[in-house]
Amino acid sequence: MQPTTSLTANPLTWDSLPAVQQPNWHDHSEYRRVSMELAAARPLVTESEVGAAARALAEVAAGDARALQIGDCAESFADAYAPRTAAKVAVLNDLADRFTKRVDQEVLRFGRMAGQYAKPRSSPFEVVSGVELPAYRGDMVNAAAPNVFSRQHDPRRMLRGYEASADILADLRTHWDKDAARRGPWVAHEALLLDYEGALVRSGRSGDYLSSTHFPWIGERTRQLDHAHVALLASVTNPVGCKIGPTVSPAEVVELCELLDPERTPGRLTLIVRMGVAAIAEALPPIVHAVRRAGHLVVWLNDPCHGNTVKTDCGRKTRLLGDMINEATLFRNILESAHLHAGGLHLEVAADDVTECIGGSVADARALGERYESLCDPRLNPDQAAELIDTVF
Ligand code: PEP
Ligand code: CO
Repeated sequence: MQPTTSLTANPLTWDSLPAVQQPNWHDHSEYRRVSMELAAARPLVTESEVGAAARALAEVAAGDARALQIGDCAESFADAYAPRTAAKVAVLNDLADRFTKRVDQEVLRFGRMAGQYAKPRSSPFEVVSGVELPAYRGDMVNAAAPNVFSRQHDPRRMLRGYEASADILADLRTHWDKDAARRGPWVAHEALLLDYEGALVRSGRSGDYLSSTHFPWIGERTRQLDHAHVALLASVTNPVGCKIGPTVSPAEVVELCELLDPERTPGRLTLIVRMGVAAIAEALPPIVHAVRRAGHLVVWLNDPCHGNTVKTDCGRKTRLLGDMINEATLFRNILESAHLHAGGLHLEVAADDVTECIGGSVADARALGERYESLCDPRLNPDQAAELIDTVF
């Protein structure tokens, strides 16, 4: 699909590069119509909102503020109505206020919302009740219901995702107060679906920007240096994030920094460390030193969720709050020992009192059955997230 901007003028831009984790919908009869509609759609976020988020992240990079990024692993289209957005914003604000009290600094607020509709998967198939089905890839690609019809990749779902995001953003803006230009809440999601994200690049006063969200990030599975996701986010003016997992090398991270932050702009790049409690103590220190030596003033966030996912005996995905607290504590200690700023946290948190992770109010694996509602990865409930923040900071 061709985006509407001048990006197409350069043959080496993102749309000529390889990409993994993309849907198989390019032969669908509606694909071209959907692509054209998205390319003509009004921006979901404004360039000035994006600029405010970028300036605020520069404060975090300088050590003068922190950031909290929370929300569902996979958002559901069914949640795109005002009371659900209000509930999510309330949990984000409560946790950020709590974090503010502990660190005595402004805490920027980012929801994993208004676009967190596409998921990378480790396997393209899953077996449900003995039947092999295409994996659920997020509401913007297919539906979670475990049958072969729901799991077909349908490009029309991109338009539903766009509309749902527009509704959520309209509701979110009603929660903005006098502090919003400084601390949000803003929205963020994994910029995974190139057909969607590429169609929503718009030209702004200071260059092309991604109008689908304030703060896009690149996931651990799509951060290949010579692939499309890195090139796409390198080409926009938004502040951008990149997840880094336990297998990344310091040299690779420095190359990512060079591609995504060539001008060495404070806060332009956020490295979201998700190594797991077993790996972080060995893996992170050399990366921190290499990034500093290369002269990038990045925001360092820890995602203690994605490196600590385990399966229970009955095959349910969960995470232990204790492991997450330990990874986040190690993260903070490693940065502070290097005289750098532990910028904050990126967490999967539900707005409801779910029982998906073990610890705090959820005693053991048996208790997971009570309210396990995630469409994808297990989320902390608000009390568990509060315990994590209070213990780590
Ligand atoms: C996610 O944030 O839901 C995710 C898939 O993370 P990662 O790219 O770190 O695995
Ligand atoms: Co997840």
